[in-house]
Amino acid sequence: MKNRIYIETYGCQMNLADTELVQGILNNNGYTISKDADNADVILLNTCSVRDNAEQKIYHRLDHLKKFKKERSGAVIGILGCMAERLRRNLIEEKKIVDLVVGPDEYRRLPELLDVAFGGEKGIGVKLSRTETYDDITPYREDGLSAWISAMRGCDKFCTFCVVPFTRGRERSRSLLSIIEEIEKLSSRGFREVTLLGQNVNSYNDNGKDFADLLASAAEVDRSIRIRFTTSHPQDLSDKLLHTIAGHSNICNYIHLPVQSGSNRILSLMNRTYTVEHYLELIDKARKIIPGVSFSTDIISGFPTETIEDHLLTLDVMQKVRYDGAYMFKYSPREGTKAYQMNDDVPEETKSKRLNEIIEIQQRISNEINQSLIGTEEIILIEGESKKSELFYAGRTDTNKVVVFRKNENVKEGDYALIKINRATSATLFGDFISRTNL
Ligand code: SAH
Ligand code: SF4
Ligand code: F3S
Repeated sequence: MKNRIYIETYGCQMNLADTELVQGILNNNGYTISKDADNADVILLNTCSVRDNAEQKIYHRLDHLKKFKKERSGAVIGILGCMAERLRRNLIEEKKIVDLVVGPDEYRRLPELLDVAFGGEKGIGVKLSRTETYDDITPYREDGLSAWISAMRGCDKFCTFCVVPFTRGRERSRSLLSIIEEIEKLSSRGFREVTLLGQNVNSYNDNGKDFADLLASAAEVDRSIRIRFTTSHPQDLSDKLLHTIAGHSNICNYIHLPVQSGSNRILSLMNRTYTVEHYLELIDKARKIIPGVSFSTDIISGFPTETIEDHLLTLDVMQKVRYDGAYMFKYSPREGTKAYQMNDDVPEETKSKRLNEIIEIQQRISNEINQSLIGTEEIILIEGESKKSELFYAGRTDTNKVVVFRKNENVKEGDYALIKINRATSATLFGDFISRTNL
């Protein structure tokens, strides 16, 4: 019986959540989840297309798996996720080792398509759907503290650089009720943190119930469960949403609000639908309504036609907002997007130079923000031993910062602890244990 399945996950948190969904579907159909590739009968790569280097990584991995396939004839190798949509022909015809290609909206058919692949044919399912939300499927999750919950799928924003609307299809939301039921189950299993996911999670809409309604209901399930969410689009960050975050102690005061660029001209070419002025007003308003809220962002360097002036405006917006953290990328042209038709005219060298300046500024700001926290008291959720020493625990603050402190017998994993910060680097805070606490 060939039933051991192994999945490797690349890309964003949506893919991590989808991997659990796929494991749920396959587990219900008699497959067992294997933790390593070596003795698996099926190896699946859940892939990302967002930038060229993400796809190159998968191609390298497939080259490695070629050898594996030779050694173990009969093993099925498959591609799930965003590359399945973009490159199905290429994957099947050129990379001949792939037996299965299944996109994000066809995971229900995996058992059937695996049978096809075991029968020696190619198992292919790459249709996108306007309605599929996998509402009724329970993801496969090991016991733990943190869980991802996908609240919606797809994206309708069509930023001109981005492949996601093409690989994930149109935006659609799960029912509020099914999400709440999932959180109830997680609560009874002892989970302590839930992250609601969507490409623009704040445009969530279940028959008129918006994202603020979802957050409020989620927060009320279990007051000792922290609620996080990502990603927020500036266009849909409503006052109601800000007040809902402020009104619940277990909704984290942390908003990932990608700006992408500090130049209005570039933002318009990107079809981001806001200006820098509007964005900064939003940040100000959020800081008034939610005291202590922190922000992170995504930034792209070297979008077509970006000049040094545009680049300086990006550095400027970073200094105005003072993000706690940032994900920073070089522009990568993606076939099929609008920006792909523009000339990718910023030389590679310039992209890299600008990216390095962006990273440098962000590191300085992160470090300054962290230094300013020395002497303050923070509540953290203890997630486990610190990476560097078993004598220390590590956990995260409400604003998503890692805090490390010396273990003691008053607390264990899964507890909340009050910590006085006494030292900081740009990535980590260190502190002294004060007491066990509640949210
Ligand atoms: N839905 C989210 C995230 C989308 S992908 C959002 O709207 O913010 C994550 C990030 O990858 C994007 O925010 C963007 O900064 C980056 N990205 C997307 N396409 C890219 C491309 N073609 N080149 C470089 N970076 C890209
Ligand atoms: Fe891509 Fe823009 Fe949609 Fe985010 S909002 S997934 S960047 S198209
Ligand atoms: Fe990548 Fe698809 Fe996520 S392109 S970033 S895995 S939505």
